[in-house]
Amino acid sequence: MCGIVGYVGKKQSVEVLLEALSRLEYRGYDSAGVAVLNGKGVEIRRKAGKLQGLMESIHKKPVNGHIGIGHTRWATHGEPSERNSHPHTSESGSIAIVHNGIIENYAELKEKLLAKGYKFKSQTDTEIVVHLIAEHAKKLSIEEAFRKTLTQLRGSYAICLVSKDEPDRLYAARFGSPLLVGIGKGEGFFASDAPAILGLTREVMYLNDGDFVVLTASDVKVSTVAGKAVKRKITSIDWDLSAARKDGYDHYMLKEIHEQPAAIEQTLFNRLDLDKNEITFDAKTKKFLNNLSKQERVIIISCGTAYHAGLVGEYMLEEYAHMPVDVDLASEFRYRGPMLDKNTTIIAITQSGETADTLAGIRMAKKHGSKVLAICNVMGSSIAREADAVIYTHAGPEIAVASTKAYTAQVTALILLTLYLTKQRKLVTATKWKSLLKGLHELPKTVEKALATEADVKTLSAKYASLRNFYYLGRRYNFPSALEGALKLKEVCPLIHAEGYAAGEMKHGPISLIHMGWPVVFVATDSPVYEKVVSNIQEVRARRGECIVVASEGNEEIRKNVDSLIHVPKTEELFSPIVVAVPLQFFAYYVACANQCDVDQPPNLAKSVTVE
Ligand code: M6R
Repeated sequence: MCGIVGYVGKKQSVEVLLEALSRLEYRGYDSAGVAVLNGKGVEIRRKAGKLQGLMESIHKKPVNGHIGIGHTRWATHGEPSERNSHPHTSESGSIAIVHNGIIENYAELKEKLLAKGYKFKSQTDTEIVVHLIAEHAKKLSIEEAFRKTLTQLRGSYAICLVSKDEPDRLYAARFGSPLLVGIGKGEGFFASDAPAILGLTREVMYLNDGDFVVLTASDVKVSTVAGKAVKRKITSIDWDLSAARKDGYDHYMLKEIHEQPAAIEQTLFNRLDLDKNEITFDAKTKKFLNNLSKQERVIIISCGTAYHAGLVGEYMLEEYAHMPVDVDLASEFRYRGPMLDKNTTIIAITQSGETADTLAGIRMAKKHGSKVLAICNVMGSSIAREADAVIYTHAGPEIAVASTKAYTAQVTALILLTLYLTKQRKLVTATKWKSLLKGLHELPKTVEKALATEADVKTLSAKYASLRNFYYLGRRYNFPSALEGALKLKEVCPLIHAEGYAAGEMKHGPISLIHMGWPVVFVATDSPVYEKVVSNIQEVRARRGECIVVASEGNEEIRKNVDSLIHVPKTEELFSPIVVAVPLQFFAYYVACANQCDVDQPPNLAKSVTVE
């Protein structure tokens, strides 16, 4: 989604801003811009399209100055175009702002500004904010005018402001959209996401909703919008810039698929202890889990790929830990009036920790007295901070828009959680426990073996890349795998429509489309319903559909029922969604490459969805 950066210090701000923006490109965007104080006033440069275009135009005609703000925009109000790109300026041109989020009452505020004679140059909701600030600044200081404006806004925002009249400082405020302050030696930064300023500084201050910041090269002052000073902790980012680079891979997505054994290893680290024969968590999480009542009801909320991880979690928590689990799309959960109480635990699964719907869902649940456990990848993110306990996935930064390693790390975290609760509730025999822990310990190696499917899947992808409709079918633990496989393909290859179904649902509708050559990807790994899946394969073959089947290693019998076969390592069924995910990710990746799609930044998609 949109990216924000800001800089104040001794360097040429435009260089810092462009470098930081380039690190946010992975979030998905459609235009970019910067505003720099050039000694005379605010100089604005904006361009629709990729950041490269903006860089080239700045290269031809440089902008000089030591303080500025920058933005990559993902269109919400108004088409992607230069005039709708940020920064937006006041009519005099002396104030510029960049904004992430959505101002929900912008139409009403715009009416009022139009009545006062303001002229709008863009179709954005953001432009009303800068005009409101300018209006209040007729009587107030910039800082007071900004604060007053914030009290009039409804919706979500992270806003950075630079003004010609205050050339030594930047202002920013956050409510519902992520924003952090980077602290350097004699310089300061704003960023919507930590990778933007990695390499520039490691010291960051995550802001809370309602925070208002005044940033100079030597000082950061945080207060509430009303002006009450607040203290925010400075934390050190402990991951490396190299983690946010492609390292020789053509795309981040491919790199991140390959990083899965390491990511899973990280998720298991310090939690799976084979010597002690136990699964453990940090003290806070253990306390949280140990306090769950016997009657505890669990609702998992999440979006997109994280929702699919949640569906896998439902199968395992019910089967192993005997807990009643519902899984909800966060965007539905928050509006359907769910029955919530203190015996309900919400598990919020999220890579970014900033997804607006998931964040709103946990806030609503907390208001009703429910407890919140987050499974989250980004440390210090909003959801991680607002949850009562967090199981961090530690998968490292995920840059590609299409989630891969974060997904398998989420499922790994759910396995840890399930097994912990299963043991705590005495629902597992010693022998089964030992074999589960062994399988879990071997999981990174098992996934490493699954990576060896790459060459075969690549060949297969070439065969199917020209097709435009795909079904993905699976049952039980691998019904979510089918949903995830289909999402991955349509996400990274927008030329293709792909749909995932529970294989048993086929005959209730989707089968009507099957005809000669229609490709259906089946997950037919070992499971109690394996034979039922084979029957579903037969139903497709009877209609001359093309069956691409993922089966367990050693299953040669299935060859006679398939058009294309991918073997994955054998595992316990509850680990299988992780192993199965690998060839399905490769398939989506190579089909997209064969179709020359922008794999890492598919059109219309954003990495972190911070608006509703
Ligand atoms: O950051 P989150 O895990 O909360 O994001 C949820 C979804 O937006 C995300 O999984 C999305 O579906 C991905 N692009 C999937 O690849």
